[in-house]
Amino acid sequence: MLQTITSIEDIKQRIKTFKENQFSIGFVPTMGALHEGHLSLVRQARKENDKVVVSIFVNPLQFGINEDFTQYPSTFDNDCELLSKEDVDIVFNPKAPEIYPDGFCTSVVLEHLEDKLCGKSRPGHFRGVAAVVLKLFNLVKPDVAYFGQKDFQQTIVIKRMVADLNLDVNIKVLPTIRGKEGLALSSRNAYLSETEKKDALCLYKSLIKAQTMVNAGVKNAEEIKGEMGKIINNCKSAKIDYISIVNPKTLEAVSEVRSGNVAALAVRIGKTRLIDNIILMVLIVLFVYST
Ligand code: PAJ
Repeated sequence: MLQTITSIEDIKQRIKTFKENQFSIGFVPTMGALHEGHLSLVRQARKENDKVVVSIFVNPLQFGINEDFTQYPSTFDNDCELLSKEDVDIVFNPKAPEIYPDGFCTSVVLEHLEDKLCGKSRPGHFRGVAAVVLKLFNLVKPDVAYFGQKDFQQTIVIKRMVADLNLDVNIKVLPTIRGKEGLALSSRNAYLSETEKKDALCLYKSLIKAQTMVNAGVKNAEEIKGEMGKIINNCKSAKIDYISIVNPKTLEAVSEVRSGNVAALAVRIGKTRLIDNIILMVLIVLFVYST
């Protein structure tokens, strides 16, 4: 049965019991307003572990001053219902002062990764993400933690932090779950009007265009980004924050596309900032001659 825990003391106690019983722990950190994207991570965690912990915490540290922290959608009762159905063991739902008591001043800085892509327009965002995820890892002590490809830069930051600090957790990244027409599911989609939801499809269309161009043999990143930009600029309510094709380890922009490079973008649809990405695959055609 789903148990809700709000205090650090209680979560520590519960995790201690799990460890004493040698239960493996799967962990899915979230900010709530759960959708099928989150649930895909929960289902995988359920399949692979004895115990599943999901955190729901809207982390103030990862929001800039003019961002949507105060409006961030909250659907806690519904979230718990969904998690119950997925047979989750614990939902950890602390209040901000529990996580950040007076005097909290520790920061987790990922040099060279936090100032790229989303980090450019959201300074401090990834420090906030890294700090809270590290804290949650310390509390939940998961064997495996599950993240979505949807937040591509976040997965790179977390994997780097885990490697750099020798954290004892296995990070799994699962594919982006999309709506029927391709829009990546996001808690922030709740901000979109029906018209904006249609407009928001330009993100996915531009990513598909990138892969189609690569399939046709185009390797020049500028040319691909140009065509992606055209698709987005055709949509009146869209404003590009960035379009980039990067090396997935360093997040540095590439000029010539290779397999595994990631096309990533952030676009404002009206007032809502959306992100999406695709891992580009360069097809290798083998000709086999028979005599
Ligand atoms: P949140 O946006 O709630 O996302 C929680 C997890 O769900 C992240 O790993 C995210 O990548 C994944 N996710 C979101 N949409 C998805 C989709 N359409 N398909 C697959 N996975 C998806 O990401 C955060 O919260 C926070 O930054 C957090 C890691 C909890 C730290 O505060």
